[in-house]
Amino acid sequence: MTSFPSAFLDSLRERLHLSEVIGRRMRLARAGREFKGCCPFHKEKTPSFTVNDEKGFFHCFGCGAHGDVIGFTMRMDGQSFPEAVENLAAQAGLVVPSNTPAMRAKFDKEKHLYDLLERATLFFEDQLWQPAGSAALAYLQKRGLSAERIRGFRLGFAPSESKALIRSLSSEGFTTESMVEVGLIKKSERQDDYYSFFRGRVIFPVADKRGRTVAFGGRVLDKSEPKYLNSPDHPLFHKGQLLYGLSRARLALQAGQPLIVVEGYMDVIALADSGFMGALAPLGTALTENQLAVLWRLLPSVDGRDPSRDYSPILCFDGDQAGLRAATRAAERVLPLLNAGQSVRFAYLPAGQDPDSLLRSQGRASMQAVLDQAKPMIDALWDMTLSGRRLGTPEERAGAARALRLKIAQIKDESVRALYKNEMERRFSSAFGWHGGKARSFTPPAPPVPPLAPPQQMRQKILLALMVNYPPLFEDFGEDFATIAFADPALATVAQQLVQIFATEGYETLDVEALYRQFSAGDHAHGVTEKLDQIFSESTYLHAGFARPSRSIEQARWGWKSIWNTYLQEQLHADLKAATRLWHDDPSDANMTRLMALRQQLESLSRESQAAAVDGDQQESAPAGG
Ligand code: UTP
Ligand code: MN
Repeated sequence: MTSFPSAFLDSLRERLHLSEVIGRRMRLARAGREFKGCCPFHKEKTPSFTVNDEKGFFHCFGCGAHGDVIGFTMRMDGQSFPEAVENLAAQAGLVVPSNTPAMRAKFDKEKHLYDLLERATLFFEDQLWQPAGSAALAYLQKRGLSAERIRGFRLGFAPSESKALIRSLSSEGFTTESMVEVGLIKKSERQDDYYSFFRGRVIFPVADKRGRTVAFGGRVLDKSEPKYLNSPDHPLFHKGQLLYGLSRARLALQAGQPLIVVEGYMDVIALADSGFMGALAPLGTALTENQLAVLWRLLPSVDGRDPSRDYSPILCFDGDQAGLRAATRAAERVLPLLNAGQSVRFAYLPAGQDPDSLLRSQGRASMQAVLDQAKPMIDALWDMTLSGRRLGTPEERAGAARALRLKIAQIKDESVRALYKNEMERRFSSAFGWHGGKARSFTPPAPPVPPLAPPQQMRQKILLALMVNYPPLFEDFGEDFATIAFADPALATVAQQLVQIFATEGYETLDVEALYRQFSAGDHAHGVTEKLDQIFSESTYLHAGFARPSRSIEQARWGWKSIWNTYLQEQLHADLKAATRLWHDDPSDANMTRLMALRQQLESLSRESQAAAVDGDQQESAPAGG
């Protein structure tokens, strides 16, 4: 029997959807995750022949016929194994590798490189748990990773000593040439000498679809540059065609989880740590068309899908300006490729956060909320094209309509393009169109940037902690306190109740203990007590020692003033930005007045804080935080 390389047979099985190949030869009906039909290999009236795309097998409960796509073709057409393979390869558009000595040598060499990469992975893993790796291990633990997670992702450490890896791999019989070939070591410029490519870095092994290590990412432990190094491309690794986390995400997808595309190694790990197992990341570049193709190829064929499930991978972006630009570029890349089985969704994180930082600071639920708000392509496209655009006059609206049309024209698939065109026209005319002679008013979509940056949220927390721990502050600062628009609804509840308690019971006499009792009593207790524990946690005080209950009222007063100043300044800047945008869209007198007022406030505030800074220098009385 002619033998084909197993990698070739695997790619053949991956490319062809079993239900499509079989569905061309007989009637199949969907039944849950499988397909059913009357067995073509024995006579029957009620269907007992099932096809499972995920497993890649058919099975007949009547006659016991069983096999994969190749077995089906052999039985159905009475072909030999090589004949069936040739036929299917033609259907899949693959070239059958000839079984020549040269081919065999190529496959032997590949096997050698896979072995080498596996041994290197083991070496790095081992180093992490040796004394040399203690700082790296501590670093990973500081970033919240358990030993189990570290082992699960096979994280490792590349020692600083530049020969250690070469020594270890040489002793196992690997040649320096092969180590050079996969980018693990480099030749020195001067002598005939070699050194490790990764030195003093945490190692993230990058696995292919089948879970075999093909490359590495290496992160420094401190702030030095470059932060990450990645293996160069080599015969088994093409950066633009692989994603970190692919083999795991593939299984997660089959288990019903969504594919989530994020930016970094640590994001993939943090997401998996919180149960989002479908996370993947490109390798240091923006998502490529090849990577999109890889993702879409993981999905079952359109007919084999659960019609109630959205299979579109969710692309996550930072909610800041750079993130929005990246999302727009990704949309440009996806547009031409859209079809009935291929789309994506867009999710935006709070500005300045990545999934890792969001999960660690706000927990699983906030990440879930981000994913729940993922926008389908059509909505994302509408927002990206129209947000921030002037739409006040017919000419401006015509310009916007044209911009939308240009985007839609990029869609290559005819039926999807037609449906986008219809839908956009419908939306456009319901926003601007003539309805019984009256134009409806239209509010341009707000850019998907969550309003408050993390440092501002932390300031809100500190101000609240101060007010609870030092109620007498309410006397002078109560008015300011009441204007704070808390981003976190739970904080807003606490603040609201606090003001209520102060109003009914007074703040001069109330001590902190009594306040806690108030919160946990009766209807004040809607999850607020847990929230309080979060507010009055080390992480808050870490930033503001003066807010600790054990400090003096003078320190608290000083702390309030300094935090409030920065808080207000940041807030005014944000308001000013929003007001400017508003005025651009609608240059009315009212909007102009607001803009001027905000500018004035900001100017006088920065004059005040400059004056305060000069005072502070002379008195040198700032109580230490922390
Ligand atoms: P980020 O700079 O966003 O880092 O790079 P990160 O993933 O949040 O890393 P931590 O949390 O600081 O550890 C995102 C991704 O871009 C690639 C890496 O793949 C990284 O995971 N990158 C970044 C590089 O390839 N080289 C670099 O120097 C930096
Ligand atoms: Mn990060």
